[in-house]
Order: sequence, then C-alpha cells, then structure tokens
Amino acid sequence: MMLIFGLVSSLEVGVVSAGPPSVFNILDFGAAGDGVADDTEAFSKAWAATCKASTGPPSMVVPKGKTFLVTPTIFQGPCKFHKVYIQIEGTVVAPNNPNKWSGIDASLWLQFDSISGLDVRGGGEINGQGQSWWKQSCRYNSKPGCTWTAPTAIKFNNCHELRVSNLRIVDSAQTHVLLIASQTAHLFNLKFVSPGDSPNTDGVHIQNSQHVLIEDCTMQTGDDCISIGDHVSDIQVKRIACGPGHGISIGSLGRGGTEVSVEDIHISYSNFFGTTNGARIKTWQGGRGFARGISFEHCNFTDVENPIIIDQYYCDIRGKCKSEKNAVQISDVTYADLQGTSKYPFAITLNCSESVPCTSMKFNSVNLLSSRGNVDTKAFCINAHGEATGYIHPAIPCLG
Ligand SMILES: *[C@@H]1O[C@H](CO)[C@@H](O)[C@H](O)[C@H]1NC(C)=O
Ligand SMILES: *[C@@H]1O[C@H](CO)[C@@H](O)[C@H](O)[C@H]1NC(C)=O
Repeated sequence: MMLIFGLVSSLEVGVVSAGPPSVFNILDFGAAGDGVADDTEAFSKAWAATCKASTGPPSMVVPKGKTFLVTPTIFQGPCKFHKVYIQIEGTVVAPNNPNKWSGIDASLWLQFDSISGLDVRGGGEINGQGQSWWKQSCRYNSKPGCTWTAPTAIKFNNCHELRVSNLRIVDSAQTHVLLIASQTAHLFNLKFVSPGDSPNTDGVHIQNSQHVLIEDCTMQTGDDCISIGDHVSDIQVKRIACGPGHGISIGSLGRGGTEVSVEDIHISYSNFFGTTNGARIKTWQGGRGFARGISFEHCNFTDVENPIIIDQYYCDIRGKCKSEKNAVQISDVTYADLQGTSKYPFAITLNCSESVPCTSMKFNSVNLLSSRGNVDTKAFCINAHGEATGYIHPAIPCLG
C-alpha cells in the first residue's frame, strides 16, 4: 500500500514537470535535520519557493530519516499552482520549551493559511512536544502562572480542497488539528497519539467549515477525538478508533449566548475504547440556533463512561453557570445499530433543555450493557421527544 502510494506520488510530483523544478527539498534550503538546529528558515524558504512555483504540481519535501526542529510558522497562501503538496516523510518537531512562544501567539505552531488544493501526506510524523505545556496547563490544576492557551499543532485556516493523510500527529500542546473556515477537506489514514491525561488535546476540531470527510483514523488523545464547533455542516466521520479520549463530540455549542448552526453531521462505523464519552452532544445554556440532522450509526463502545449523552447544561466548571432561557435547538438525531458496554450505570443520558426540548430523536437497535459485571444499565431522559424502534437496551423512558 505504502509502496504504491510512494510510486504514485513521485510520478505525480516529480517526473511530469519540465522547466523549473517542482520538487523543493528542505535540505536544499539549508535545513540541518538533526532535531537540534533551528530549521524554521529552511522551511519558510522552501515553502515560498513551492508556493510561487508555476509548474507542477509543486511539492515541498521533508525527507525521511531526519528530524527537523521548527518554531511557530505560518505557511501562507494563496499559491500559484492550483494543487500543492507537502510531503512529510521525516519528523517535524516543535520546540519543547514554552519560552519559545514568549511575545508571540501561543495558540499556534504550524499554521496553513488560505491555500487551495493543499495535500499534506508522506508517512512521517509531526510532533508537538507538548509535555511542558501540559505541566503548566490550568485545565486540571489552576495555579499561579498556569496557562489556558497552548499551541495547536496544525491549524488549517481558509484552506479549500484540502487533503491530509498518512501522518502521525503526536503530543500536541493543545488541539492536534484545527480546521477553521475551510471547505471540502478529506482527512484519512492519520494516527493521533498523546497521553489520555494530556489537557485539551483534541484530535481534530472543526469550526466554521463545511464538506469534511474524516476516515480511517486512530485517535488516542486526552480530549475529544473529534469535536465539532458552532458553524459546521456536511461532515462525515467513518471508521475511527477512538480512545483513550473524550469521544466524538458535537459541541460544546453556544458558549456565551452565541447563535449556532450545525447540521448534517454523520458518524458511523467507529469504535470507542475506554473513553469518557462516546456519542456526545453538548451545548451551553443561553446559546441560540440549532444542531440538527445528526446521526451516530454502526458504532461499538467498550467500557465507555457515557456511551450516549446529550448535555444541554454543559458548563466547564460544574455548577458555575447560571440557568438561562435560551438553548440551542437539538432535533433530528439518529442513533442506530450501536452496541457495547458502559462503565457507569447510565449508558444513555438525554439531558435536554427545559425551554427548548430535543425533538425527532430516533433510536433504532441500541444495546448497551454494563462492563462491570452484574449491574444493569439505565437511561436518563428529560425533555426529549421522538421514537425508539427495534431492540433498545436500556429502555429510554421518555421516548415512545
Ligand atoms: C463491533 O464489534 C463487533 C463484535 O466485536 C464486530 O463484529 C463489528 O464489526 C464491530 N463494529 C464496528 C463498526 O467495528
Ligand atoms: C441534567 O442536568 C441538570 C442541570 O444541570 C443536572 O442537575 C443533572 O445532574 C443532569 N442529569 C444528568 C443525569 O446528567
């Protein structure tokens, strides 16, 4: 598989072009590749050459067998050619010291901005070296000098026709991949790895974006494997192995009274292993707008704390949010062919808003047992309306 991939890519990127070169190897731009010297300038120069190449498609190559230290960098588009490759075969590492971000935006490490037709791939690794950031995070330990913001490893902003595949994305200081204001993206064959207790390390977070397909990924992180933000539609998620982590989450939506529009989100053929949540929708009180046309189908849960959960009272600090009238309207959510085990008795929780109930909820063939021996599972259900068909266990009291 990888061999064929390699052949195809060298044909595509190398051999076809005549005239000026369309392969830009960062070693030719002065990179040391020893993991110690700062190779940022080589990356910036190689990117500038790649992005302005008029023959191609051009490809920036990060070669195999070497480690490149890169400080926070913006790879700016638009580029001249309609398709641009970044072939990462080696390892790219972030500085391991938060001091390297002093005086600059601490939310960024590698940012790709306004590039159409970007294709990032290559079998290599992107390593955020987030350990020092996690230690000083306020998330689990609020102390003087702690920080809430840490660098996202890879941010795609305003990138259309994007492809990201065949990479390991490791130990991000915060979110591993952030997709923002982007249309038409295909993420596949990616492996995300960071410790289960690393704070805020979402696998992929999607915000203000449409037409995204994520498939065949392994996600082992300290936060949501995938999370979906306020203005997002037409998302397909397939064949994800999630865990450790917090599951696949729509939300949290509507923080601070914002208006949200989330629709057409479909998650299927995915497995959750020991995660805190599985299929989750969470909204803040006071939000407005809607989350609708959502489905979770053909998924397995193994020892998951809350396999199915809707929480319309989400609050980052329990009990610190005051009660409000407005709520994001949740409707047309399908749960079908879901099975597995729950760590806690409440395998299903539908905690919907009192003022704006959940409507058109559909359950079909859902079977969740306890992973703790002889305990039976239960469902909690309030302000939710809809129907349950097929075998449902535990029974959901508020659905007909
Ligand atoms: C769920 O687990 C069952 C039994 O292990 C397996 O047959 C099925 O293929 C799994 N489903 C998915 C979506 O992987
Ligand atoms: C539902 O939400 C209410 C309000 O925040 C909370 O008090 C209650 O514990 C929640 N119930 C469950 C089962 O999560």
